Amino acid sequence: MQAIKAANLKAMEIPTHPETGISLEALELALDQWPIKAIFVTPTCNNPMGYTMPDDKKEQLYRLAQSYDIAIIEDDIYGDISYQFPRPKTIKSFDTDGRVLLCSSFSKTIAPGMRVGWIAPGRYRDKVTHIKYVSSSMCRCFPNSPLQNSSA
Ligand SMILES: Cc1ncc(COP(=O)(O)O)c(C=O)c1O
Repeated sequence: MQAIKAANLKAMEIPTHPETGISLEALELALDQWPIKAIFVTPTCNNPMGYTMPDDKKEQLYRLAQSYDIAIIEDDIYGDISYQFPRPKTIKSFDTDGRVLLCSSFSKTIAPGMRVGWIAPGRYRDKVTHIKYVSSSMCRCFPNSPLQNSSA
């Protein structure tokens, strides 16, 4: 929420089922009414609700994003701690046009102090690389900047 605020963006909460995840009906209503640019979801082993969205619902979410031509930011930070084997699919695995930005980190598997993460940004690669370059430069050049403590 702090990162969203710092970027002068607004967030809208979408009702979510504790077993199957984000309500696609509610999301579609919101998409019809607001100029939404991206969906941020933690669809696998969600914390605190505990759900993992079923594969077919993950694919439907992806198709919905496609039909409204928006991005999905998939926070997969808990995906590797699933009890299931093989681990549940990502939304990214349905992505054929690069609109899903899949990100994760070692914070929930190895150690939170590592502060090492990764992203597969699809078609947003250049933008993400630029933002990372700028935010890392800010931290080096302005050690007291608010970005100093961000995980960007
Ligand atoms: C759901 C979720 N996504 C992302 C992060 C960010 O991970 P990191 O600590 O590697 O910045 C956290 C951190 O706890 C988290 O809980």
